[in-house]
Amino acid sequence: MARGETIAGLDIGTTKTCAVIAASGPDGLEIIGVGEAPSTGMRKGVVTDLEATVHAIEAATEKAERMAGVHVSHVYVGVTGEHMQSTNSHGVVAVTGEDREVIANDVKRVVDASKIINLAADRQIIHSLPRHYTIDGQDGVTDPVGMSGGRLEVDTHIVTGGSSFISNVLKCVHRAGLEPAGIVFEPLASSAATLLPEEKQVGVVLLDIGGGTTDIAVFADGGVLHSATIPVGGNILTNDIALGLKTTFAEAENIKRTYGSGLVRPDEADQTFHVKTLDGRSTREVTSSQLRGIVVPRVLEIFRLAKANIVDRIPRDQVLSEVVITGGGAHLRGIETTAAEVFGLPVRIGVPSTVAGLTDAVKQPEYATAVGLVLFGPRGEQTPHLNGQSGGPLGKFWSWFSSIWN
Ligand SMILES: Nc1ncnc2c1ncn2[C@@H]1O[C@H](COP(=O)(O)OP(=O)(O)OP(=O)(O)O)[C@@H](O)[C@H]1O
Ligand SMILES: [Mg+2]
Repeated sequence: MARGETIAGLDIGTTKTCAVIAASGPDGLEIIGVGEAPSTGMRKGVVTDLEATVHAIEAATEKAERMAGVHVSHVYVGVTGEHMQSTNSHGVVAVTGEDREVIANDVKRVVDASKIINLAADRQIIHSLPRHYTIDGQDGVTDPVGMSGGRLEVDTHIVTGGSSFISNVLKCVHRAGLEPAGIVFEPLASSAATLLPEEKQVGVVLLDIGGGTTDIAVFADGGVLHSATIPVGGNILTNDIALGLKTTFAEAENIKRTYGSGLVRPDEADQTFHVKTLDGRSTREVTSSQLRGIVVPRVLEIFRLAKANIVDRIPRDQVLSEVVITGGGAHLRGIETTAAEVFGLPVRIGVPSTVAGLTDAVKQPEYATAVGLVLFGPRGEQTPHLNGQSGGPLGKFWSWFSSIWN
């Protein structure tokens, strides 16, 4: 990326749509614009109202553009939802370079070979991320270019998504006057903004607790070992509070943010507060232990579901050293303590930290995905370049896609 060039990310979440613009400076990428608008047309990664989603994208992008003082045409788009799946694959090729020296094209060929998986007609590959290479039986190679050998192998993490769900998201992006530069599975974006290389090396679980989904990414030996989405997020706590305390969703959200706690064992004396009744005309007294009785079982359920999902999909002997929680749900008081109990691992809250230009307002867990899109997007493979040129099978998809709206 040339100096001064800009790159943008678009996170269309269940609760908010967020656009981030970064420019390449002397010390790498720097965030220069952030814009946000409420989402009303998305649920758990799936478009439920096209017009509302287009408006949210336009509003968030305009705000980010105004702050950055630039116009953007291409955006890396975050995708998530139950239609997303992942698997680990393996590819093998013969090295063709002169003197049996691995060249970039061999690496491309071996990764392509790993992409030959059973894929239903209505699904597409979003990422094929090399985890490590093996040359003539020597494993653990991170960059094989220039090394000598006859047989090159790769282990990749492959992420696939439901084509119609993805084209609905892209349709909204297009209608908002933007070109998709590429698509990124959201937990991978969040990881790029919050995790350090050392954490990815020793084994880390990233949980992005959003409004509608909890997105999971597991890293080990520097690469992605597993990624997934479970269809529960922070909004289910709000729904439970609204039902349990017989109040509106808005009041329940306010109560959750002000008095909510995810702690299994309380760390302070019980307090009493007032909750508006459904008609808003009066209030009812509620204690913090009553509220905890509603919130804590759901928090435990989210962590247990996430843990079961991970345990099911990673090798039994895989060592993991830490859990990092991000997404707006990470704001819930005491959530780290409860996660640490369920996972039996140290837990920290992850905020965007791996890029320059972050103001305090953006160093919040709910911006991890949007910030991470500009970091991970260009690395995500299978994505057309910023200038709109594209190659490979997805390139064809993109040309077809662009031709519909141009
Ligand atoms: N102070 C707080 N305490 C508890 N929960 C909070 C707090 N602030 C925000 N949240 C919760 O965070 C969630 C929204 O997080 P986020 O903005 O990351 O979601 P999203 O990206 O819009 O949704 P998704 O990723 O599921 O599509 C909501 O459920 C909200 O209630
Ligand atoms: Mg999100």
